[in-house]
Amino acid sequence: MPIQVSLPIQARAIALASILFLTGMVGASLPLRADLIGHGGMVRAVDVSSDGALVITASFDFTARIWDFGTQAEVAVLDAHEGPVTGAVFSPDGKRAITTSDDKTAIIWDLATAKVLHRLIGHGHKVMAASVSEDGTLAATGSWDKTVRLWDMATGAPVAVIEQPSPVNDVAFVRGGEWIAAGGHDGKVSLWSIADGSFQGTLEGHLQGITKMVAAPGGERLLTASIDRTLRLWDIARRDALKVLYHSDTRAGQVFAAALSPDGARALSAGRDGRLVEWDLASGEIVRTIPVHDKIVWATRYTPNGQFALTASADESTAVWHLETGDRIGLRAEDNKGPQPWLTSEHPGAHLFTKCANCHALDARSASRSGPHFEGLWGRRVGAVQGYKYSGALQNKSFTWNEKTLFDLFDKGPDKFLPGTKMPVQRVPDKDQLANLVDYLRVLTTEKH
Ligand code: HEC
Repeated sequence: MPIQVSLPIQARAIALASILFLTGMVGASLPLRADLIGHGGMVRAVDVSSDGALVITASFDFTARIWDFGTQAEVAVLDAHEGPVTGAVFSPDGKRAITTSDDKTAIIWDLATAKVLHRLIGHGHKVMAASVSEDGTLAATGSWDKTVRLWDMATGAPVAVIEQPSPVNDVAFVRGGEWIAAGGHDGKVSLWSIADGSFQGTLEGHLQGITKMVAAPGGERLLTASIDRTLRLWDIARRDALKVLYHSDTRAGQVFAAALSPDGARALSAGRDGRLVEWDLASGEIVRTIPVHDKIVWATRYTPNGQFALTASADESTAVWHLETGDRIGLRAEDNKGPQPWLTSEHPGAHLFTKCANCHALDARSASRSGPHFEGLWGRRVGAVQGYKYSGALQNKSFTWNEKTLFDLFDKGPDKFLPGTKMPVQRVPDKDQLANLVDYLRVLTTEKH
């Protein structure tokens, strides 16, 4: 049994709705918690909010956590389960999250306050996963008690109990929310009408248990992952597999994690072997393979722009990957051994720079981080650090970093100013704060320390 650890919950009081990049800064006195590190147990699930701003993770340490995607800082700890947390998903509008647990319950959370809204009680065994309908009105939970349960998202009231032939590992709304799909130990997906609970058939083909299911937008297609080492893409109406994708042919190739890109054209698989494989679904070919963790990968997700993948692992961490380059974004703040003048500076832009320092070293001699170092940044050409692997977004640009370009980078946002960039930060909405940050970048990178 994992032991419940005592966790810092200083950030819990922050109203999540107000957390936009840098506006939610709690001050430079708090310890930096970079790289989504903080769980004290393996991470079983990960999800990204539909606007890409927040990440939720679920862990065997009995908690779920909310993170800011841009800065990878912890925003809140959701601490109300009495057992390992097995699943966590955002509602489509990002205002709620549902977590599931070995404690036989699921919880609907209000993310504006990080408080429990409804505890969903009824399952008789571990609850393995939850899903929310595309219109946000219904939740479905799947359990090893061989049932799928439907719940009203607004009230938490039970709506239906649908008996299953075997223990359930995952659930998904399909056919525009008309049907619910359940997959589990017997390797079959069973399909049920939500209106009357009637059985609508099975998707058969996996040789062993199903671990994960993802419905494509609109719900005509379903992606399933299995410990039989494959992914299958199904046409629901025809109840037929369109593709069988072989993640691995070694015994360590069990697949526990799967994701579909927002446009439905690509898929991700990962599992026991620690590799993240990206697939082109039209051709069934592998696009890339990234070694992501030394231990089991339990879950993966694309960001809404399709450019990054998140992976949740038995190594207790969650990592962000820039798919084009295969680079991990964000390294532990403790790795930094270089000078850190921003910690003591009186300059009004210094406290904002602590966020940048998670990923950027001040000088060329410091330990390399996931972003390029800032030595001589003021007046430096874009993409000019020798030996740093820039994304394509910066390689063919020829402007110089100065007051205007640095301001524009965070006023418009890196994703708009440099489309495709692997810097996952969002915007600094307050123009005065941004001007202060830009001036501090000038001071930092033109003056001697
Ligand atoms: C989570 C990690 C992360 C954080 C936090 C971050 N950056 Fe970056 N940054 C990167 C990465 C990665 C790149 C490389 C972009 C690419 O190649 O697409 C980058 C690139 C840049 C560049 C271009 C450098 C060059 O050599 O052309 C600038 C300027 C920059 N960041 C400024 C900042 C500032 C200012 C902050 C704080 C407000 C910040 N970054 C926060 C990861 C980060």
